[in-house]
Amino acid sequence: MSTQKRLVIFASGNGSNAETIIRHMSAKGHGAVVRVYCNASQAGVLARAERLQIPTIVFDRKDLGDPECVLAQLQKDAPDLIVLAGFLLKIPEVILAAYPHHIINIHPALLPEFGGKGMYGMHVHQAVKDQGATQTGITVHWVNAAYDEGAIIFQAQTTVGLEDSVADIARKVQTLEQKHFTQVIDRVLRT
Ligand code: GRF
Repeated sequence: MSTQKRLVIFASGNGSNAETIIRHMSAKGHGAVVRVYCNASQAGVLARAERLQIPTIVFDRKDLGDPECVLAQLQKDAPDLIVLAGFLLKIPEVILAAYPHHIINIHPALLPEFGGKGMYGMHVHQAVKDQGATQTGITVHWVNAAYDEGAIIFQAQTTVGLEDSVADIARKVQTLEQKHFTQVIDRVLRT
């Protein structure tokens, strides 16, 4: 019997994290991304998944809450872990209830600061800049019914200087994501 872990990734955008996770899993062989779930038909993550030969499903907000659509696909894919990597919709109760303690998210700031509704993508880095924060970072956390409020699994920090633009802050955070996220996923898969 194979002990390979099955992962699915939910993403809405560019997909740099998704690609790194897919490559990491296939290089190490201890897990595999079995499908990318995406709510935006033009998202870069879909092209990346296609290039890497990972099946995808595209759905809208209504499908996400429909037990016969996204949940039904999840039940076929039977994931050990659901990874949200730049996924912008709220995970509905029907999915949370089916996968308790099986869903993690990466947030591009140091929660509990700079989290919550509307805090995604460049809005987060803009808020960090506007507030004059001297540090930012990444947070990987369990997903529950409230945005960005599940228990924290891991954080890593980087400094923010007055001279840093919003784009500079985004780059620093992305560097942390690329460095740490796969290792955190590996750790979660081992527990
Ligand atoms: C990342 O900054 C992630 O932390 C956040 O959304 C962004 C997604 O980037 N949740 P990408 O689509 O993986 O390139």
